[in-house]
Amino acid sequence: MPGRPARRLIGFLGGTGPQGRGLGLRLAAAGHRVLLGSRDPERASAVLKELRSPVGALVGVGNREACEAEVVFVTVPYAAQRDTLAPLGDALDDKIVVTCVNALAFDERGPRPVRVEAGSAAEECALLLPRARIVSAFHDVSARRLLHLDEPVGIDVLMCGDDEDAKAEVALLAADIPGMRAVDAGPLRLSAPIEDLTAVLMSVNRRYSIHAGICVDGLAR
Ligand SMILES: NC(=O)c1ccc[n+]([C@@H]2O[C@H](COP(=O)([O-])OP(=O)(O)OC[C@H]3O[C@@H](n4cnc5c(N)ncnc54)[C@H](OP(=O)(O)O)[C@@H]3O)[C@@H](O)[C@H]2O)c1
Repeated sequence: MPGRPARRLIGFLGGTGPQGRGLGLRLAAAGHRVLLGSRDPERASAVLKELRSPVGALVGVGNREACEAEVVFVTVPYAAQRDTLAPLGDALDDKIVVTCVNALAFDERGPRPVRVEAGSAAEECALLLPRARIVSAFHDVSARRLLHLDEPVGIDVLMCGDDEDAKAEVALLAADIPGMRAVDAGPLRLSAPIEDLTAVLMSVNRRYSIHAGICVDGLAR
């Protein structure tokens, strides 16, 4: 993208969980500055100590401060999405918001899709943040793979959204992570099957004790 700064400021809401930690570490390793957000900034700072991240590349902050970033990832459980986003709406106006949230619930048999009135967790996110530029992505990459920093991720991530420029920006961020490629699956309304597919992948992973992802063939690398 012409004129794109090489080093972006990237925020995470609920960045203290495995998905936020994994993506945050990978993006920091790629040279970006990361604001790892939490409901409790002290918890975010404690998590960073655990991660032994390079000094300065990641900073632990409150969720509202994480919204000061240029691109903000949502990495909270679906059950926490509404309570997390509703008070932050104004802070995210015009921002690229990348939602990794899967509308899933869990019981002893594993994950299952949850029916969402808006259609998907990502479409609900778009309703909660009507002036943000929503991109649904990184649903189908296991945090375990992200957290093994010494290994390339080696998978494709399905991405969808209605803002073409925002998707292009997110695809560049994905490409900054070794062995990762974003594949544009189309409009935001396709997020439901992508989120549901994550339940299938998690079930496969559980059955075979692996951390499988998706590779789309036929596309030039
Ligand atoms: N884990 C994976 O491999 C993976 C892969 C792809 C996509 N995802 C998606 O990414 C999202 C995050 O996954 P995760 O495994 O990292 O989740 P998680 O560990 O369950 O939660 C992430 C963070 O969200 C915050 N949070 C938890 N409950 C909350 C509540 N009730 N209200 C507000 N904030 C709350 C917590 O941060 P604070 O306590 O610090 O505020 C927590 O550390 C999920 O929607 C998941 O479907 C996960």
